[in-house]
Amino acid sequence: MKFLLTALFAFLLNIVIFLPLAIAGLESDKQALLKFAASVRHGRKLNWNTNSPVCTSWVGVTCTQDGTRVVALRLPGAGFIGQIPTNTLGKLDALRSLSLRSNLLSGSLPSDITSIPSLNNLYIQHNNFSGDLPANFSNQLNVLDLSFNSFTGNVPETIQNLTLLTGLSLQENHLSGSIPDLKLPALRHLNLSYNQLNGSIPGSLQRFPKASFVGNLHLCGPPLHPCSPILPPPSPSSSPMLPQKQSPKKKFGLGVIIAVAAGGAVMLFLLALIILCCCLKKKDDGGTGVSKGKTSVGGRSEKPKEEFGSGVQEPDKNKLVFFEGCSYNFDLEDLLRASAEVLGKGSYGTAYKAVLEEATTAVVKRLKEVVVGKKDFEQQMEMIGRVGQHPNVVPLRAYYYSKDEKLLVYDYVPGGSLSTLLHGNRAGGRSSLDWKSRVKISLGAARGLAHIHSIGGPKFTHGNIKSSNILLNQDLDGCITDLGLTPLMNAPAAPSRSVGYRSPEVIESRKHTHKSDVYSFGVLLLEMLTGKAPLQSAGHDEMVDLPRWVQSVVREEWTAEVFDVELMRFQNIEEEMVQMLQIAMSCVAKVPDMRPSMDQVVRLIEDVKQSDTENQPSSEENKSKDSNVQTP
Ligand SMILES: *[C@@H]1O[C@H](CO)[C@@H](O)[C@H](O)[C@H]1NC(C)=O
Ligand SMILES: *[C@@H]1O[C@H](CO)[C@@H](O)[C@H](O)[C@H]1NC(C)=O
Ligand SMILES: *[C@@H]1O[C@H](CO)[C@@H](O)[C@H](O)[C@H]1NC(C)=O
Ligand SMILES: *[C@@H]1O[C@H](CO)[C@@H](O)[C@H](O)[C@H]1NC(C)=O
Ligand SMILES: *[C@@H]1O[C@H](CO)[C@@H](O)[C@H](O)[C@H]1NC(C)=O
Repeated sequence: MKFLLTALFAFLLNIVIFLPLAIAGLESDKQALLKFAASVRHGRKLNWNTNSPVCTSWVGVTCTQDGTRVVALRLPGAGFIGQIPTNTLGKLDALRSLSLRSNLLSGSLPSDITSIPSLNNLYIQHNNFSGDLPANFSNQLNVLDLSFNSFTGNVPETIQNLTLLTGLSLQENHLSGSIPDLKLPALRHLNLSYNQLNGSIPGSLQRFPKASFVGNLHLCGPPLHPCSPILPPPSPSSSPMLPQKQSPKKKFGLGVIIAVAAGGAVMLFLLALIILCCCLKKKDDGGTGVSKGKTSVGGRSEKPKEEFGSGVQEPDKNKLVFFEGCSYNFDLEDLLRASAEVLGKGSYGTAYKAVLEEATTAVVKRLKEVVVGKKDFEQQMEMIGRVGQHPNVVPLRAYYYSKDEKLLVYDYVPGGSLSTLLHGNRAGGRSSLDWKSRVKISLGAARGLAHIHSIGGPKFTHGNIKSSNILLNQDLDGCITDLGLTPLMNAPAAPSRSVGYRSPEVIESRKHTHKSDVYSFGVLLLEMLTGKAPLQSAGHDEMVDLPRWVQSVVREEWTAEVFDVELMRFQNIEEEMVQMLQIAMSCVAKVPDMRPSMDQVVRLIEDVKQSDTENQPSSEENKSKDSNVQTP
């Protein structure tokens, strides 16, 4: 003991007096590793000799490039047995990646490991750790895999603070209690399966599949089974099991509105009068255009909270038709009872955000002026449902058809529309959208559209590509909505914002083809590049479309003037912007056959994005390194 202390003292003295700080860091890493190796039994012999260089010869150890700190320790399946003491690996305070998966480690997981400030990735699955999960985490954590252990206790609330977390694997433990409301926008992979969790799945996590939650007997709510037994359709008021259903709805009950509408002819008359007044007043308001993004906070959205169910007939006769694979648990009555908020009014109808019980949120679109019969409508819906199975397409979940009312139910996509991001909305100014995001959104939208074309076949078009129909999902990727509705509708008589997106042949003959979608997509790219609306005022009353405007500017060789001033703040993107401009211009060629197909457009944009990532190799490199950890 005495000897040890003296040695330690000598060593400390060494550091303080003789060695520069960087070496001190490496020396302390070395001591931490040696202490770990000394205190944890291991089957395989480690070649960690005090005299050999840590960074170049120690197995499983990776250092910074300049060899001054240990940044990764990877020893999967090394036969470690027993507990990890505190003050061993927890002292590796420059560590970014730790993999000790598939060992026989047990006991509690020291919280000084999970709280190493620089820690990005922790893989300790397939051990036998037990006890509570530590509550202290590095806020740099990216991937946390604690699965296949014997952890008990609750899922710590502090996980909520890990804003960079993309993967959380806690399956196959003995965790209990309810799941905290983890609002983690970056989270893409979640697995809580096979624990003893209970209660309802919080709204923020309902976007994950069933497979993320299975094997927890007392867990309920979407995407699993509903939390309470489904009631027989009539009289929800008599169930003692469902106190929440009895509580009076403060929000507008749509069913009530229907009753009122049916009962009071006088009311109807008054309503008509009010609407008439509004219309007259708004006549010079111009834009009947669509906006699916956040809409006005002003007077406009206050009143029509209730409208989307007024034409629904006896609910039992005509039910909501759900598509396969849809995890929604509501029926038409729930939908009509939900509180609704107008998201936007477009040429095809009005979109509402409906918030149902258990925090399910859906978008309900109420179509106006559907001109096709029930059979054709249903066929088109089937087609839209089938084509919509792609990460870059907003899926149609259900529809309702009756003589007086046609409703479509979509997933709610929280990020707003590209239109709102580029141009702002009535209430607020635009937020600036950087170049990378613009390319990413465009690529997502292009992929979605290419998918629609390839699955839908030559006759199936989107028919209404515009920036307000490109929504942003939680990964800030572009998602296309509103596809396939054009054939159901009367062509809107009033000029709407979509006019600027129509190709010459559509304006002439109303014939929609894949190539007319490509044209609209080209206009969308121009809009993204210029930050300008698709129709430009050219003085007086004359309007000039965006392709012609860009052509005229480019012809004068003032290319730089074309681009959105917002983009001028970013460095080294000119080349990419010009490439993108060329793609856009090829899409808006006058002759349809001269335009590329959407598949080609995807590849062209991918090339632009490729050069984009080549400029920043570091983050990609890290990623590929980290993924190595997972391969055996
Ligand atoms: C894992 O640890 C628990 C106690 O924490 C013990 O009961 C169990 O037998 C261990 N399992 C294995 C496979 O070692
Ligand atoms: C978490 O870590 C910080 C510093 O690393 C420490 O001060 C604190 O006591 C720890 N809290 C818990 C609950 O372990
Ligand atoms: C989590 O974040 C909140 C605020 O963002 C903070 O008050 C709280 O202390 C944090 N908790 C931990 C454990 O870091
Ligand atoms: C969940 O389980 C815990 C015990 O692990 C219990 O105290 C709690 O009441 C349960 N909650 C629900 C909603 O069942
Ligand atoms: C979660 O883990 C279980 C195995 O324990 C697996 O069956 C399930 O597919 C996983 N879920 C996801 C979403 O990967």
